[in-house]
Parts: sequence; structure tokens; C-alpha cells
Amino acid sequence: MIKIEKVTKLYGQTVAVRDISFEVAEGEILGFLGPNGAGKTTTMRVITGYFPPTDGNVFVAGHSVLDEPLEVKRQIGYVPENPAMYHDMRTIDYLKFIGAVKGVTRTSLKERLNKTIELCALKSVVNKRVGELSRGFKQRVALGQALINDPPVLILDEPTSGLDPKQIFEIRQLIKSMAGERTIVLSTHILPEVSMTCSKVVIINEGEIVAVDTTENLGKSFVRTHQVELVVKGPSKEIKNNLKKIDGIGKVDNVGERYTVEMEKDKDLRSKIAKQVVQNGFELLELKSRSMSLEDVFIKLVTEEEEGDRA
Ligand SMILES: Nc1ncnc2c1ncn2[C@@H]1O[C@H](COP(=O)(O)OP(=O)(O)OP(=O)(O)O)[C@@H](O)[C@H]1O
Ligand SMILES: [Mg+2]
Repeated sequence: MIKIEKVTKLYGQTVAVRDISFEVAEGEILGFLGPNGAGKTTTMRVITGYFPPTDGNVFVAGHSVLDEPLEVKRQIGYVPENPAMYHDMRTIDYLKFIGAVKGVTRTSLKERLNKTIELCALKSVVNKRVGELSRGFKQRVALGQALINDPPVLILDEPTSGLDPKQIFEIRQLIKSMAGERTIVLSTHILPEVSMTCSKVVIINEGEIVAVDTTENLGKSFVRTHQVELVVKGPSKEIKNNLKKIDGIGKVDNVGERYTVEMEKDKDLRSKIAKQVVQNGFELLELKSRSMSLEDVFIKLVTEEEEGDRA
């Protein structure tokens, strides 16, 4: 449904995104995950035709953003990072207005309004002015304006940012409820958001894609660096050197007496680790296995990139 093809975007000399490619299948909810400044908003603006890419192209439902920007825009409902809305308009009038701007015909407008109000749970605020609404309701109105013309694609730039936990939960539920019906790209820098709402994840860092996978696989595939956590009393330098001597051991880190040891997924080195520690006269207080969470994967991918850059 969406195909991002070798997109590069420069702001003057600054490379915001470099040669990125990924696809979003019809009905899929894709999490576009990355830290601040990674290039999420830039990519979304290219997808929506807000500005053209410096290089590369994007196709939405087969239409090229370079050659048919209007057709692309027609396919997309967009909720930008900070949606600009007409604060003096009543919610209902605002939605009608956006509907008209987007070319919803008079005959279908009423039905679209009703559906949107119901889906976004806006009934209680239809007669209130947009400027008076709480942030959570404003965000729902922003979603409403994106949905009013029933577009097959939704592009949501950090849709839950600045909301309280209850509002976050409600917006996530709303997004999730559209799985299968619409193709959705949702940017976030919050990991749980991806595991809770998305079926697929693209991780971007410093303008480059560092991982593309299903939410489920991403966690699994990185479990190849299985971790063991231990608490040991004694001089940390000596303990670390001893641990590193074990065959198959990767990185060893410590914070005080707490050590994290990495190893390949299929190797269970726990008993070897225990022996090594005890036989060398250190006091082993605790030892446990720890599989990597999506959060660990994210941090690892993002920091490894940075380390790579420095080298
Ligand atoms: N209008 C602009 N002019 C110049 N540089 C820009 C502009 N907009 C963004 N950038 C730069 O491009 C890079 C990517 O920014 P972008 O806003 O796409 O990141 P982001 O992933 O959306 O970040 P955030 O999580 O903070 O919203 C950053 O280095 C940013 O400083
Ligand atoms: Mg952004």
C-alpha cells in the first residue's frame, strides 16, 4: 500500500534521512520508531506529499508522490506532530469544513460526520469550540479530521504525545481498532506503544533504518545475545577478566556488584559462569537469565549505531 523507495531528504546541508526504503502492506499498522531527531517527521512529510524528497520516491496505492501528489494526498489522512486547528470553530463545524475541503460530497458528508464522531468518541464535544477542548479531545478531533473523507491510509506523527495515561490508552485502542481496515503508519519514540499497537516496526536512527521486522520477531531475533545477570562480591576488574575467559562469552558489563554477561542464544553457560566465579574465590550472590525486551533491542540498535559512527 505504501512503498518508500530510497528516500533521501536534505535540509540545506543537513541530511535528515538517507536512502531509506520500506513498505507497508494494506491493513497493516506500522510503528515508526526512533529517538528525537531520527527523521520520523521528515519521512512522514515526504510520504504525505508535504514536501518532495531530495532523492528517491514514495508510492501510495500505486501513485507516485512526485508525479501525482494530489492523488497521493487523497489517499491519506494525516495527523501532524502539532496539528494546527481552527480554535474558534465548533468541533462539528470544523469537521464539516475539513470534509468540504477534502471534497466529501454533501450527500455523504452527514454519514461521514456521524461515523467519525462515533469512532473518535466526539459526541460530547461536537458543540464546543476546538480551542476549549482538553488535549486528549483535541487529539481526537485531529484524528477525526484525518478520517472524515474515509482515507485508506493514515499517517500519525506521535499521536499520543502529551496525553495522560488514560487518554493514551484510549487513542491506542482507537488506532488498534482500525487494524485491517486502514493502512497506518504511526511514529513514536515510545517502545511500549509499538508492542501494544503495531504489527510491524521500522526503527530509524540518525536518518537511517536500523531494523525492519514484525514486532514479535524483533524481540526474538535479538535473543541471540542472551544475557545472564549476576551479583558477585569482589574486585570488579578481576571478576570481569575472569568472566571473559569463558569460551562463548560476549560483552561483560557491571554496575557495582551487578554484572551483565552476554552470550550466544543457543549456549547456556550459566553453570560455567557459576563455576568460574566460585572457583576463583569470588562470592556469587545471585545468577539469573534475562531475555532481551524490545526496549533492550531498541537501545542496543540505537547505541550501536552511535558507537559505529564514532569508530
Ligand atoms: N525545517 C528544518 N530545517 C532544518 N533541519 C531540520 C528541519 N526539520 C528537521 N530538521 C533536522 O532533520 C533531522 C530529522 O528531524 P525530524 O524532525 O524528522 O526528526 P524526528 O524523528 O521527527 O524527531 P522528534 O522525535 O524530535 O520529532 C534533525 O536533525 C532535525 O534537526
Ligand atoms: Mg518528529
